[in-house]
Amino acid sequence: MVQPAITGSGVFTPPEVITNDELVAAYNAHAETFNAAHAGAIEAGETEAKAPSSSEFILSASGIERRHVMNKAGVLDPEVMHPLLRQRSDDEPGIMAEMALDACGKALAQAGREAGEIDLVICAASNHERPYPAVAIEIQQLLGAGGFAFDMNVACSSATFGIQASADMIRAGSARRALVVSPEICSGHLEWRDRDCHFIFGDVCTALVIEPAEEAKGAHFRILSTRCATQYSNNIRNNNGFLRRTRPGGMEDRRDMLFMQEGRKVFKEVLPLVSAHIAAHMQEEGVSAEALRRLWLHQANKTMNDFIGRKVMGRVPEPAEQPNILQDYANTSSAGSIIAFAQHSDDLRPGDKGLICSFGAGYSVGSVLVERG
Ligand code: COA
Repeated sequence: MVQPAITGSGVFTPPEVITNDELVAAYNAHAETFNAAHAGAIEAGETEAKAPSSSEFILSASGIERRHVMNKAGVLDPEVMHPLLRQRSDDEPGIMAEMALDACGKALAQAGREAGEIDLVICAASNHERPYPAVAIEIQQLLGAGGFAFDMNVACSSATFGIQASADMIRAGSARRALVVSPEICSGHLEWRDRDCHFIFGDVCTALVIEPAEEAKGAHFRILSTRCATQYSNNIRNNNGFLRRTRPGGMEDRRDMLFMQEGRKVFKEVLPLVSAHIAAHMQEEGVSAEALRRLWLHQANKTMNDFIGRKVMGRVPEPAEQPNILQDYANTSSAGSIIAFAQHSDDLRPGDKGLICSFGAGYSVGSVLVERG
């Protein structure tokens, strides 16, 4: 049986950064303008006034300090409150493909591979900029990769589900060498005018090269096993879709056409789900907490990660054992656990085991048990 391994990882980090203070200043200016414009309706009790946001709340509720975005000016303009991205012609590379090229180039360089040696590209992300042609096929073409490519979306778990799909295909022989790439422009689906969530997301792109371990040219991580699970929930939802214009009011600027969540419910329901998922995966594979050197968790919320880390390890993990990157990137959906992996795995020694785990909308949870080779 072929043993798949992660042989390269790459991260594209957008250069523009928004700190909590900058974000809060823009939101509060927007709230003031909104309240002034709707003063009569607010007075009459017909509209709710917008309360101000605060950097202290954001840091203590989430652990997030800043986020990278593809466009800062639009997000911070109180009259706009969303990214402003250039319209591209159909003949130039799309923005997701452009981010992907950077991350894939880094992953390929680390693996010591040429794009022409890739025969599977999975674009695994929470949002794709168009329904078709698949963004993955555009990436495949721009890279000069062969084989086949497809998009997949399991929200925050897209990347881990993509790892499972590619590892299974490599084992089965339908693909030889894969790129799992996750361009996440979360700033595009975030409602920056809603103080309950305006601080949550950031943009990034990650890429992984997956190929048979015996062909690895350098240090790598054998994929010992993967485990994916889903359980339907409406607590994280976005109603935007291709039937939008067919429905009354479907084209209006509606709250439900962007990311919505019941944050508290997500917290309460996802934590036990993920803890039990990881425990079962480790038990099935005969891996004890003592044998686990590193936990690369989904990067949504520091308190959530602290809780899961304690459950999995049976003690408070050292910061280096369970690295967080959410303070610098915010929640980058499916890319979060892969950034943590890419930035905090070099020091592991041959034989060391670690676990990548993502979780989020769906609900979905995906875990990948790896061993340094
Ligand atoms: N600034 C100041 N106060 C704020 C605020 C802001 N930006 N946003 C909300 N508040 C207020 C709320 O109105 C609420 O006030 P109340 O108690 O008077 O009603 C209070 O702060 C607590 O809000 P709540 O939404 O309950 O906060 P929380 O502790 O649940 O933290 C999240 C919010 C979103 C950080 C947290 O719920 C979370 O991370 N959930 C899971 C997210 C997740 O993993 N999602 C997956 C997405 S892919």
